[in-house]
Amino acid sequence: MSQTKIWYITGASKGVGFSLVKKLLENGHKVAATSRTIEALEKLDVNPENFLPLEVDLTNEQSIAQSIEKTVQQFGGLDVVVNNAGYRLGGAIEEVSNTEIEENFQINFFAVVKVIQQGLPYLRNQRSGHIINISSIAGFAPGLGWSMYSSAKFAITGLSEALANDLKPLGISVTAVLPGWFRTHFAKPDSIAFSQNQIDDYQFLRAAHQRMNEMDGKQLGNPEKVADVFIKLADHANPPVLLFLGSDATQRAETKIAELTEQIQYWKELSSSTDFKE
Ligand SMILES: NC(=O)c1ccc[n+]([C@@H]2O[C@H](COP(=O)([O-])OP(=O)(O)OC[C@H]3O[C@@H](n4cnc5c(N)ncnc54)[C@H](OP(=O)(O)O)[C@@H]3O)[C@@H](O)[C@H]2O)c1
Repeated sequence: MSQTKIWYITGASKGVGFSLVKKLLENGHKVAATSRTIEALEKLDVNPENFLPLEVDLTNEQSIAQSIEKTVQQFGGLDVVVNNAGYRLGGAIEEVSNTEIEENFQINFFAVVKVIQQGLPYLRNQRSGHIINISSIAGFAPGLGWSMYSSAKFAITGLSEALANDLKPLGISVTAVLPGWFRTHFAKPDSIAFSQNQIDDYQFLRAAHQRMNEMDGKQLGNPEKVADVFIKLADHANPPVLLFLGSDATQRAETKIAELTEQIQYWKELSSSTDFKE
């Protein structure tokens, strides 16, 4: 039986976040969950006991700070922080505007940084805790047509790897979870943004986007099973820094690692050619 913990989860009104909240509450955990609107959380069919719904603007440091403070006041501490909120931005780099990129990075990357900054003082003081950041397989082995989204997710993967080193001496674990395709709202129009601007030469990217639309409802990953994985991660004495989630994600990661290994070997002489030779 897993020890019950205090969780703080962003983007919880649907998808992975919602499934996680539901299962954690069923398992007796205390859960603070954020959404852009409190109504979206209040209408959720969950047991209200041990549940703290929080309306949070993830672009606003104050809003995040207050929500974490409320969590600690309500439940008497903080054990696991899950940075889950995120959305896709499709389009070629020449097509997406700086505003579209900045808005996407505000949620997919900078909100994660802000949540960690606000949560860490509590975890650091108690010398324990776990930060779980939801990246994506696109943040390790990117596909076609989502370069800005992939960049933000690579930033999450990298941040998590670096933080895992920095925070280990303080007793805090960090894991980046890199999901493959999961059957959530993620491929639906309200969870995706596309560049307003379109350039004819990039029509082939539209075909890749269309393939994602067609996959909606048929994705391999079951979001209901994610909570069990997260509970295992949070209970583990030595959790992984990167966890690929779903056999599709694992396969893409293995393919990339094999290609990278081959590339490193092939270019080794050139790579080493810059060393001093004395
Ligand atoms: N499903 C997949 O195939 C897949 C694959 C790889 C990675 N992921 C990652 O998994 C995480 C969860 O996604 P999901 O599949 O559960 O998708 P989802 O069903 O669309 O849910 C996404 C959640 O993120 C929040 N969110 C979306 N846009 C936001 C914005 N502009 N500002 C603030 N919050 C926003 C929403 O929070 P509200 O409660 O405020 O609406 C929502 O609850 C994301 O980080 C996503 O990148 C998903």
